Amino acid sequence: MPEIFINGQAVQADDNQTVMQAALAHGFFIPYFCWHPHLSVHGNCRICTVEVEGDGGGWLDIACNMPVAKGMRILTDSDKVRARRKQTMQFITLNHPVDCGICDKAGECTLQDYHVAYNGSPSTSRDPKVQSTKFFPLSQRIILDNERCILCTRCVRFTREVSKSNALGVRNRGDHSLIRPTEDRSFDADEYSDNVIDLCPVGALLSRRFHYKARVWYLKPTPSVCPGCERGCSIDLWHRRPEWKLSALDARQNNRIDRVTPRENPAVNGPWMCNKGRDLAATFERARADQPLLKGRPVDSTAAIANARQLIGDARHPVALVSSWGSNEELASFKQALGGRFECFVKADVAAAPGETLADAILIRPDKNPNTAGARALFGAAPPRFAADTDLVLVWGEGTNFGDLPPRAKVIFLNAWLQPENGHADVFFPISVQTERAGHYTNFEGVESAFAPCFAKADTVADAEALFAALAVGPESGA
Ligand code: SF4
Ligand code: SF4
Ligand code: FES
Repeated sequence: MPEIFINGQAVQADDNQTVMQAALAHGFFIPYFCWHPHLSVHGNCRICTVEVEGDGGGWLDIACNMPVAKGMRILTDSDKVRARRKQTMQFITLNHPVDCGICDKAGECTLQDYHVAYNGSPSTSRDPKVQSTKFFPLSQRIILDNERCILCTRCVRFTREVSKSNALGVRNRGDHSLIRPTEDRSFDADEYSDNVIDLCPVGALLSRRFHYKARVWYLKPTPSVCPGCERGCSIDLWHRRPEWKLSALDARQNNRIDRVTPRENPAVNGPWMCNKGRDLAATFERARADQPLLKGRPVDSTAAIANARQLIGDARHPVALVSSWGSNEELASFKQALGGRFECFVKADVAAAPGETLADAILIRPDKNPNTAGARALFGAAPPRFAADTDLVLVWGEGTNFGDLPPRAKVIFLNAWLQPENGHADVFFPISVQTERAGHYTNFEGVESAFAPCFAKADTVADAEALFAALAVGPESGA
């Protein structure tokens, strides 16, 4: 454990650390563009320059590629360092269009931040800027603005080292350099491609879905869990801040998922997520069911609960198909209130879509439901089956073909979405979705992750946890 000195303070570094790693680990800030904690070191942007004190006046060097050595003395913010960083920023922005006013990255762009921190001066160049491709279609999902690109190569290294698609490279030299798809690869085939949008330190890599949709300072991240597969990646759902709520224009923007980004979680997904998770808005923006029904006839929730309780009380052999999208709290509530009354089986609410990747060696898992593990921990892993005398089936969540249910059995159905089956159930309850409630999922490795609500549910939509308690019909209901 070599002792080094950063800005005069003694620090115990690890043997294999770089100066950048040791500094960040001990709370010293050093700016960086090309360095990324989960990618190899490239050392091309030079903004991380620090001063190494030594005999004869010391020298300047980049922190991201400098191994620590015993007794080393580092200055992270000396006059020499600031002067060099100013020159570096002048160089990096030499051909940059400075079109921050229309850039999706504005507000979270390190180029902006470091310009203010270390440069703050207009360009000293008298040569016209080299112009480049403004909106190059990198894939069906991503647009590249070559004028904003600072050629840090993070995106290229990501495709080589993480997603392994090798789909990006650098073409040409000098100020004609361009990030481009490699000749024999398609970036469309990279199921993790959208991570480069987050990785890009500037606004060069743009999500087609998010392009010009919102300024980031109007948005707020809510911690959540991707329900796209049993990995359960930790994510942030970005949506409009309540204080910026729109009362005119399009009010739907107030309840819209504007983008989804990974929330770093070493126990689950590291800093990455797959493209399917980025498209979660499509899942949650499907038409919602918001009306309790009795055989398709709208009723209030009191009448629906009374009818369901009657069916549960009268049944001889009730069976429940438990949702693998239910939270651990909802599952526990079901077990507590109705687990002793029903024979329970965990069902898959969602199956892999045609053509969808079933699994890979990075994150994607074959079970496309987020809480199969949590549900099986309470209700076992036996596949659903019905007995000859099954006379009531409670179906919780989507994914069940009603034609497979016993023909004479009564059906209580809990579902969040507007689907034809809702009207065929004897009793139907619309229920809330993950974005409207707090809870936890347990992933396939047993890691429990929390999600928080970001939108309010409609008054007529039930909270399943409370609904199960209301449906309990007697002392024999409990587990
Ligand atoms: S597009 Fe972004 S991540 Fe890729 S090299 Fe350019 S600046 Fe870096
Ligand atoms: S790997 Fe699974 S949980 Fe993670 S983002 Fe993709 S679909 Fe969602
Ligand atoms: S961060 Fe060190 S050279 Fe780019």
